[in-house]
Amino acid sequence: MSDLPHFGSNFLWGVSTAAYQIEGAVDEDGRGRSIWDEFSHSPGRTKDGDTGDVACDHYHRYRDDVALLADLGVDAYRFSISWPRIQPDGVTVEPRGLDFYDRLVDALLERGIEPSATLFHWDSPQALEASGGWENRDIAERFAQYAHVVGERLADRVTRWFTLNETVVFTLLGHGNGIHAPGKELGFGALQVAWHQLLAHGRAVQALRAAGASQVGPANNHTQVRPVDDSDETRDAAHLFDLVYNRAFLDPILLGTWPLAGIVDPVAHDGDLGVIAQPIDFLGVNSYNPQYIAAAAPGGEVPFDQVVPDGFELNDFGWPIIPEGFTQMLVGLKETYGDALPPILITENGGAFNEAPGPDGRVRDQRRIDYTAAHLAALRGAMDAGVDVRGYFHWSLMDNFEWAEGYSQRFGMTYVDYATQQRIPKDSFAWYRSLIAAQHGR
Ligand code: NOJ
Repeated sequence: MSDLPHFGSNFLWGVSTAAYQIEGAVDEDGRGRSIWDEFSHSPGRTKDGDTGDVACDHYHRYRDDVALLADLGVDAYRFSISWPRIQPDGVTVEPRGLDFYDRLVDALLERGIEPSATLFHWDSPQALEASGGWENRDIAERFAQYAHVVGERLADRVTRWFTLNETVVFTLLGHGNGIHAPGKELGFGALQVAWHQLLAHGRAVQALRAAGASQVGPANNHTQVRPVDDSDETRDAAHLFDLVYNRAFLDPILLGTWPLAGIVDPVAHDGDLGVIAQPIDFLGVNSYNPQYIAAAAPGGEVPFDQVVPDGFELNDFGWPIIPEGFTQMLVGLKETYGDALPPILITENGGAFNEAPGPDGRVRDQRRIDYTAAHLAALRGAMDAGVDVRGYFHWSLMDNFEWAEGYSQRFGMTYVDYATQQRIPKDSFAWYRSLIAAQHGR
């Protein structure tokens, strides 16, 4: 561990998960159906037809999982709250749903772990789809109501709040090309959904603050955009991709502006940008790898193509491993937003490395250790270059339901045997535990 840079004793160390990916228990305690239940049960949508029906059975095993977190020694745990547990039909409150998160939060606090809750990690109530789901502006008000209910119950104990997770991915994969739930293929029309999420974010910040929450921000996904060559065409395509992927989800929040004006203009009401640009306490950043962009052949759905570059090691999902892109992405945020950029929390970073237990039962996931060590060094590099980063949450505590990939991709520091639900801490778990202990001088 001595070769890793020091991050300071106040730096926050954590891990992240999300409700639909780990909880299971989809029919219990009054939980309503979510768009991911609907989607994963539709033929051909997920690998091998996998669903989150059982997942890691965390709903029943949360006490054991909190013990695992305590063993890991994290300062904070980022989990998400399932909207359809709290409002099964998108409106009516189900107290048993609130009770579950109440118990989880108290169990974390008993172990000295800061509860860090995400309000929305992609599992909206299916009932809201009948009126258009996220295409309907009204969802922002529904979301504010949900934020109010959750905030009133938990804001006295949850340390920090993340409003929406990866609005860009929910927009582009869920509503642009249909790879994720709810499976809509609206192309650039999906940016209307982005607008409603931005509005939902702003309204949720207001609702959470009114309920007494003090630390609130979004959990965005940001990537460094790299043109595949120097031609004007490629540069233009890469520039547009940067606007659509990064800036459309951050300019409105930090600058109160819409960067695609004249290119794609969502239907907005007067005053929307003022609601969206609520002051935030931090920017949550999920980041995995840079994106290489080429110009698409004329006549395609969108004018850019995302390509896998040659010459880099790939993880098992096929994502390139390029740690310096992490530094450059963070420095780029500072250059773009200057003083408007709040302190950053890395809310996700990690990779699919699918090592299984050896004959001795041990999971030797050295590639995850190497990936994480290299990205932490890259993170320190960004901090040394003047970017204010206050914490790092690794994705993920344990293997889980990887959306359209089902259970085939393993991102966890803990191996989950889905047949028995046994948890087996991997080598990376022990490595991260020593790292955190060393960073805190323990
Ligand atoms: C981002 C998402 O927030 C999370 O749900 C997903 O599992 C990881 N990235 C890995 O793809």
